[in-house]
Amino acid sequence: MSKLKQPFGFAIFKAAPLLLLIFGSNALFANDVEKGEKLYRQCAGCHQVGPGASHAFGPQLNGVMERVAAKVEGYDFSSAFTDAMAPDVKWNASSLSAFLESPMTNIPGTKMAFPGVKSEDDRASIIAYLAAVDVDGKLATTAEAAISADESNTEKQPRVLAADVEIPTHGVFHLGRVALAEEVAAWDIDVRPDGEGLPKGSGDAVAGGIIYDAQCAACHGDFGEGTGRWPVLAGGLGTLTDERPEKTIGSYWPYLSTVYDYVRRAMPFGNARSLSDDDVYSVTAYLMYLNDLVDEDFELTSDNFVEFRLPNEENFITDNRSEEPYFSGAVEPCMTDCIPGVATVSQRARVLDVTPDQN
Ligand code: HEC
Ligand code: HEC
Repeated sequence: MSKLKQPFGFAIFKAAPLLLLIFGSNALFANDVEKGEKLYRQCAGCHQVGPGASHAFGPQLNGVMERVAAKVEGYDFSSAFTDAMAPDVKWNASSLSAFLESPMTNIPGTKMAFPGVKSEDDRASIIAYLAAVDVDGKLATTAEAAISADESNTEKQPRVLAADVEIPTHGVFHLGRVALAEEVAAWDIDVRPDGEGLPKGSGDAVAGGIIYDAQCAACHGDFGEGTGRWPVLAGGLGTLTDERPEKTIGSYWPYLSTVYDYVRRAMPFGNARSLSDDDVYSVTAYLMYLNDLVDEDFELTSDNFVEFRLPNEENFITDNRSEEPYFSGAVEPCMTDCIPGVATVSQRARVLDVTPDQN
């Protein structure tokens, strides 16, 4: 196979095991498609599949194995991405697997800010799944047949009627089941300003910079200045009284714990919860550095964390309105005919547009 026939030059021929998985026995095919569908969840934040899928931050992937790489109508690929593709070549299992291993190192500058899928098996499953989805977003019939054949192998479960299910006695609404301690622990990750909830660990700004460049800069800019309309993370100090204040971590946020909590909970966008606790310490340290709060050799740890105050903390005040005479003395609030005459709109909230539909 000539190198040029691949969507991009580096894709060495590695397809044999993948093709076997895709065109091998139906049962294997079905298992793989099912596994791939689950693994695909890490892509779903950016790529829609299924009937009526539309482009989101990434292009919709219906029938992606059948289409010319970087060509789908109505999606604006980055020039880094289109430049890396040989013209008019379709994706195949080999090239897609090579690409997905590490998108951002394979195609520097791609908009696909995703660290990649390291396991070759997992990539094969994801590809088997994508190969089974046709251009209309339907799971292809071979896969459907294989999956239903698979299901018919398992013992038929007797049909359970809702009326026969015992109503749980726990909780307020008597619904569902009691969450496992592990499930609660997985959700219970909030970090408070006083440090409560912080996991033990540490990380420095240098390590954070490396993670940031690979996993955050595509959206938030090399220096936190934000690309396109993605949020700005640094700068803006002293602009809060301007007509258009630049609200960043440094200029606006009250507590460092929010930075740690937010990044750990929600970033990188589309691949949330993929960073380790120490990675989050590093990235938080780097965001402090980008905001000129610390030097570049700074190390943030669970021990020194609460020593750091963000510049705008003191401008936040406790909401004690209910104790203020005006409110605490007020009797029933007025609910009818409160303004004499006709009510008019005197002000509108500014549209913030934080999250672009597409960039
Ligand atoms: C953070 C968002 C994001 C995540 C997560 C993501 N992608 Fe992407 N993907 C993109 C973007 C954006 C592009 C377009 C690349 C460009 O223009 O530089 C893209 C491009 C692609 C393409 C090329 C499509 C074409 O028509 O040529 C494929 C295939 C693809 N992604 C598959 C995947 C798979 C599979 C996963 C999960 C393992 C995944 N992506 C995870 C954002 C993402
Ligand atoms: C694919 C684009 C993308 C990537 C990659 C990404 N982010 Fe974000 N980030 C966003 C979007 C979109 C928001 C706003 C989300 C919202 O408001 O709903 C955001 C918000 C944030 C915020 C809050 C900003 C504010 O002022 O409200 C922080 C902090 C942040 N990201 C840090 C990171 C870090 C650290 C990484 C890398 C580990 C990262 N992001 C990777 C898109 C991205």
